Amino acid sequence: GRERDLAGRRVVISAGGTREAIDPVRYIGNRSSGLQGYALARTAVARGAEVTLVAANVALPDPAGVTVLRVESALELRAAVFEAAARADAVVMAAAVADFRPAERSGSKIKKTSAGPEPIRLTENPDILAELCERRRQGGEPAPEVIAGFAAETDDVLANGRAKLARKGCDLLVVNQVGEGLAFGTPDNAAVVLVADGEPVEVPRAPKEVLADVVWDLVVPRLS
Ligand code: C5P
Repeated sequence: GRERDLAGRRVVISAGGTREAIDPVRYIGNRSSGLQGYALARTAVARGAEVTLVAANVALPDPAGVTVLRVESALELRAAVFEAAARADAVVMAAAVADFRPAERSGSKIKKTSAGPEPIRLTENPDILAELCERRRQGGEPAPEVIAGFAAETDDVLANGRAKLARKGCDLLVVNQVGEGLAFGTPDNAAVVLVADGEPVEVPRAPKEVLADVVWDLVVPRLS
């Protein structure tokens, strides 16, 4: 059964959404609540895992029995995930990581002037999930046995998900259909879990714990 089937395993989970600073008071962010990542953390603890949760801007209390590392930006999240992943058997990237950040961060609050607004130049953030998978592929460190990602898609969910799984090189990709009161900020989720070496698993709308347990059900047999 599921009980304690992650005993003795170390897992790293990212949750929430990154904030990319524009100036000391403003940022570019997203609507991720962290609920799915926290559900992954709670279910992993219940199954006996040692859990490190890298939480980006989450307004939720620390789950019991979990090491919580709080971060703000994609670069901070990257540093925390890579450090924790060095000792991990599995990494699940549930956080919404900003693809771009402002190219420069103003040291003082940007003022409104008669000249009108200045454009904000953006630069690309590293793709943490792809980087983690690529290092493992090259035989480097860290090399968790299972690496899973999440992807929110609005259309062509399966085709886009398949392509993303291949491009990132991860073992599992949880593909969410966003919209219709699902995913962001709600206690429910519906998804298809794509598996690099197997058939996809469909998870109809259910509390985020249900999807979390399906993810662990797919992780466990892939651990040595
Ligand atoms: O490419 P996309 O953002 O849809 O991919 C989503 C998956 O990739 C998530 O698991 C997310 O945590 C991860 N990701 C990442 N670094 C980024 C962007 C996304 O690790 N810069």
